Amino acid sequence: MSAPEPPMGLLAELTHRCPLGCPYCSNPVELTRAGAELDTATWLRVIDEAAELGVLQLHLSGGEPAVRPDLAAITARAAERGIYTNLITAGVLLDEAGIAELREAGLEHVQLSVQDSRAAQADAIGGYAGGHAKKRAFAEAVRAAGLPLTVNAVVHRQNLDRLSGIIELALGMGADRLEIAHAQYHGWAYANRAALMPTRAQVDDAVATVEAARYRLEGVMAIDHVLPDYDARYPKACMGGWGRRILVVTPAGRVLPCHAAETIPELTVETVRDRPLAAIWNDGPAFERFRGTAWMPEPCRSCERRAIDFGGCRCQALALTGDAANTDPACTLSPYHDRLRALAEQDAAGGTGCFVYRGYAAQPRRGAVPGT
Ligand code: SF4
Ligand code: FES
Repeated sequence: MSAPEPPMGLLAELTHRCPLGCPYCSNPVELTRAGAELDTATWLRVIDEAAELGVLQLHLSGGEPAVRPDLAAITARAAERGIYTNLITAGVLLDEAGIAELREAGLEHVQLSVQDSRAAQADAIGGYAGGHAKKRAFAEAVRAAGLPLTVNAVVHRQNLDRLSGIIELALGMGADRLEIAHAQYHGWAYANRAALMPTRAQVDDAVATVEAARYRLEGVMAIDHVLPDYDARYPKACMGGWGRRILVVTPAGRVLPCHAAETIPELTVETVRDRPLAAIWNDGPAFERFRGTAWMPEPCRSCERRAIDFGGCRCQALALTGDAANTDPACTLSPYHDRLRALAEQDAAGGTGCFVYRGYAAQPRRGAVPGT
């Protein structure tokens, strides 16, 4: 059996710690605590191994990666090894000096998350008072440092009605690109789906709003719009296909084909302490389990799209059908698709709007978005 192509990117979840508590966070519901995180020397080794494996892009993520005091050292090691570095941040911990230090270390791109267009609603969604103002200041610091800026906005029922405002916010921040991504219902978002699931009318309005903005802002700010799985005809190739383009290293060093793979109990997950990254990527059992198309059941097995979307998302298939090997129920060809649509409509119509913030507490904080 020949070795797979090397991955394009490594998503390094340096920590699960974060001052914000967004209810759609893709981190697992069981968060890793600081004491179980990889130390600096191990992360530097992981970066070296990623370079040897052929990784071209490093996405420094979390949680909030800026809680790690070694963020600049990790960035510098990646830059030394010729890996493109991208910081994915909530933007509330780094000031002008902090971002300048990262730029000096070799950082090449920043992705800043925003929660809403208005401060009161944004701070309520993130569960962090004053966060919105800090993000505005951070965007200025990124621009002052001369770094390209992408603004990431996760959208859902509680902020979609202000999508035009979110587009204006990103424009005002000087973003080169705006990524509008509908919440993916894994991890905390799955737990909060009754508060977050959009109505079909909101999704239709979002498509029209983005189309108009793209036309108006052509050449000024690029806009990506990742449509919700639940409303599409076919699923997306989650992570570009299982074990094809991206690998994830969690704060504790577990090496995953996607950020939610730990929800799949049948997977044998290895850590960076067990074997080198290249060995895990090339023939690790977790990567081999759903790589390619040979594992597929019908209807994927005989579908002409099987090497385009790779059967969609394994984690969503598990969450909604009980079996990770099933066709993603977001696909209209899945026998479970009607169940997914019924659930989505029930969540969109019946939710209270009250959500649970992500966090470590046994009794999690709850919140709701104030009216405008
Ligand atoms: Fe993709 Fe499988 Fe649906 Fe075909 S049946 S479109 S391969 S998810
Ligand atoms: Fe795991 Fe999609 S999030 S395969």
